[in-house]
Amino acid sequence: MPDETKPVTTHALLAMKERAERIVVLTCYDALFARLLDASGVDVLLVGDSVNEVLAGAETTLSATLEQMIYHTKSVRRGAGRALVVCDMPFLTYQVSPQEAIRNCGRVMQETGCQAVKLEGGTPMAQTVRALVDVGIPVMGHLGLTPQSVHALGGYRVQGRDEKTAQRLQADAKALEAAGAFSIVLELVPAPVASQITKSLAIPTIGIGAGPACDGQVLVLPDMLGLNDRFSAKFVKRYAALAEDVREAVKLYAAEVREGRYPGPEHSFPK
Ligand code: KIV
Repeated sequence: MPDETKPVTTHALLAMKERAERIVVLTCYDALFARLLDASGVDVLLVGDSVNEVLAGAETTLSATLEQMIYHTKSVRRGAGRALVVCDMPFLTYQVSPQEAIRNCGRVMQETGCQAVKLEGGTPMAQTVRALVDVGIPVMGHLGLTPQSVHALGGYRVQGRDEKTAQRLQADAKALEAAGAFSIVLELVPAPVASQITKSLAIPTIGIGAGPACDGQVLVLPDMLGLNDRFSAKFVKRYAALAEDVREAVKLYAAEVREGRYPGPEHSFPK
């Protein structure tokens, strides 16, 4: 079991890999859930740009903005105690140049109080990762299905199925590690490929649809809580059915309001 008294740091995650302790990661977008997840022992709260899809209703993550990510990361930081908070950098805030990446990631760190940023891409991003790490910004990488490149990848598909693309993923992971990334998300990667990458790295891998051998796992919170019941995927396990609970509770409330049963005397002020 992880030490639940000490705040989680990027170094603590490396130590967890060395001790073969699995790292528990969930996405989180607000203070309310940050408090609940933190109290439940989640190690890392990832403020994913998936917020743009799951909460803001957009089709992809591409239109997420820096302001949006700062707003959500600040909220998560207010609710977090022990967990490490990582802000997902939105599209075009880090790809243009290492200098722009430093400016934007630095702003995120300063304004939100998060402890790390995440960015997508492999070897072509290594120089940027190195520049960020050199100025003191911890970076989590993201390989495999990188949602900001969904149109270039031709859809939300498993990556690294053939030998050539599997080898490219392996080389990308090594390049990110050499550039100083403290961990790497592997999304939609065949389990054997993720396993091989995980074994080859000293830094932890965090899988989503990447099989059981990764050093940690991440899921999108509303998916695993069954709150976003329009979305289903092979790799998502639903641990609750909250969408159904919400619909039932709201129907009951509506019926009680319409029938004059709510509020009752116990909810009213006599004077
Ligand atoms: O945006 C996000 O939620 C993510 C996770 C799926 C890893 O990047």
